[in-house]
Amino acid sequence: MESKKIGIFDSGIGGVTVLKEIIKLLPDEDYIYFSDSINNPYGEKDDNTIIEICDNITQNLINKNCKCIVIACNTASAKAAKYLRNKYPNIPIIAIEPAYKMVYDYAYNKPTLVMATKGTIESEKFHMLYKKYDNHKTYLLPCIGLANIIEDGNLEEITKYLKENISTYKGKVENVVLGCTHYPLIQKEIKEVLGNAQFFNGASNLAKHLKDILIDKKLLEKNSGNIEFFDSQNSKEKEERFFNILQQ
Ligand code: DGL
Repeated sequence: MESKKIGIFDSGIGGVTVLKEIIKLLPDEDYIYFSDSINNPYGEKDDNTIIEICDNITQNLINKNCKCIVIACNTASAKAAKYLRNKYPNIPIIAIEPAYKMVYDYAYNKPTLVMATKGTIESEKFHMLYKKYDNHKTYLLPCIGLANIIEDGNLEEITKYLKENISTYKGKVENVVLGCTHYPLIQKEIKEVLGNAQFFNGASNLAKHLKDILIDKKLLEKNSGNIEFFDSQNSKEKEERFFNILQQ
């Protein structure tokens, strides 16, 4: 019998930062990663468009024998997780969110910069999280276009973007929430601009949560740890970068 897989998706290869954390805890599961690079960026799309895109991807992953779905995209999680959970009640849908609660738990008193897409920052879901854990020393920064630049992988563009958009926070913040799954890929570059800061990223908590859910639902499997990659543009270059990052 064909093994059941964990389906995971993002608007491109950014979600590899989430898959990396998941594999540390669940190395024997089989995975299908869907990189929706044709629709990148999600961050500036309206809610209904994102819901429709995510529904199609989810349906596809279920058809490919996935037993659960990981939304490895903060924007898609904020806008589509509720809809998908209602539509597919028998499939666990695990959704990432910006690690703002982690700041509350571990570094509450420090000035904090939350970097995320415009869609995430403006979403009702993030608004509720922010209201609940507000440390009253937080700057919310919608990084319009940044995920797209990271997806393209041009280091010069990335450095230019960061200099122009986050230099102003240098010396002002000690915590940085990486509220988009693409941003951990440029943590080093962000650090170069902001100086010493503590970084918060929701991926490791998501991985723990996923493992708990699989145990609870008796869905844990010992397979071969196989990872299949699909990209909506069939980009070989994305596939290569994805597996390179995964091996680093
Ligand atoms: N990586 C995604 C996120 O976590 C989406 C970025 C985008 O497509 O705008 O929000």
